[in-house]
Amino acid sequence: MPESCNVALIGQKFMGRAHSNAYLKAPLFFNLPLVPRMHTIVGLDLISLAPFADRWGWRNYTTNWKEVVKNPEIHLVDVGTPNSMHAEQSLAALAAGKHVACEKPLAHTLRDARAMRNAAVRSRKSKTFVWYNYRRCPAVALAHRLVKEGRLGRLYHVRGSYMQSWGGPETALGWRFQKKYAGTGAHGDLNAHIIDLARFVTGQEIVEVTGALAETFIVDRPLPPSATPRDAVAVGRKGEKTKGKSDVDDATLFLARFAGGAVGTFEGTRLAAGHQNSVHLEVGGEWGAVRFDFEDMNALWYFDAREAKATAGWRRIVCTTPGEHPYAGAWWSEGRIIGYEHTFVNMVADMMAVLAGLEPTVPLPTFADAYETQRVLEAAMLAAKHRAAVKLTEIK
Ligand SMILES: NC(=O)c1ccc[n+]([C@@H]2O[C@H](COP(=O)([O-])OP(=O)(O)OC[C@H]3O[C@@H](n4cnc5c(N)ncnc54)[C@H](O)[C@@H]3O)[C@@H](O)[C@H]2O)c1
Repeated sequence: MPESCNVALIGQKFMGRAHSNAYLKAPLFFNLPLVPRMHTIVGLDLISLAPFADRWGWRNYTTNWKEVVKNPEIHLVDVGTPNSMHAEQSLAALAAGKHVACEKPLAHTLRDARAMRNAAVRSRKSKTFVWYNYRRCPAVALAHRLVKEGRLGRLYHVRGSYMQSWGGPETALGWRFQKKYAGTGAHGDLNAHIIDLARFVTGQEIVEVTGALAETFIVDRPLPPSATPRDAVAVGRKGEKTKGKSDVDDATLFLARFAGGAVGTFEGTRLAAGHQNSVHLEVGGEWGAVRFDFEDMNALWYFDAREAKATAGWRRIVCTTPGEHPYAGAWWSEGRIIGYEHTFVNMVADMMAVLAGLEPTVPLPTFADAYETQRVLEAAMLAAKHRAAVKLTEIK
């Protein structure tokens, strides 16, 4: 019998469901060296917590995260709350000697992120993870391997974009549109993912943000209705004003240089009509290129520039072959495609491997790793604010 790892998850909404599903499914599909046990779910809304716990298989539920992170029965604390809560909850969990898996971005400010990185480095026994789940699409993991094997040669170009379209003027002023909860808008929400992906696939750090542009197209947004439970961070009450101000970016674009000399473009937006969740990355080099888009997530496009020109062309690799493609062996037989939720299940499997002292399928982001992504976010914010290039050496 493999040993078990008692998990407490803080947050029971979007990521609450994604992570709960992952803890449920990982032991069913992977032969895990350590099995996650769904010990306690934590949220703000007691009324919906009981049915949530019952539905997803959490043994306990509570609204008091401070007690949970100190509970000696808990091994891993999973933080799935709005960005501004990541630091306080993660730091308390680390202080109590727990392993911590925190959602992205690491924090809503660089200062909080640094405190988390420092605490993680200090607490040697605790492992830390950050849910940059797109690394665990088999196609992205394959791109990482191809680049690592040197298949693209010297890298020249990185093109990242994360385009969504849900952020129009009718979208209410939830926590994602408020700096005090989110830190930034599309930037920390979406660019964080593509910065992580670019760093992961290229294996190179960004050394300079050469220029950036942050735009808030929609300042006045409807306040969430008074019926919104507390956990939506409601800011309005019936009979009071109906609109509030968004103080975050709807879109942020920036240019960057990588340590190995490649140049990159990044674009994160919630106002890209026609795109719902297009997480896009293209890396091109001397000998070829790879291209990924989450809206076709089972495929990696690969171009081999050394093939004869007469027959060279983009090759669409469907990354579902067990034994050949990362994670594919845990799922179905060839050609049976997977989806969004599998990236989280794959991540739980890798976290359990690391906690058991084994290697993950591809590297997991730790707090220290995610701090490097946070530094790039900060550099781009400063570049936009000052309309100037910002070297990463300026961001400590
Ligand atoms: N990896 C991804 O692809 C991905 C996708 C979406 C969101 N996220 C990240 O996940 C985090 C949560 O986002 P979400 O979309 O799930 O938000 P959400 O608003 O859907 O859920 C937030 C949850 O946090 C809980 N919460 C808030 N304050 C709390 C407190 N003090 N104590 C206990 N519970 C508290 C709420 O009850 C709610 O259940 C964010 O950091 C976000 O950036 C990541």
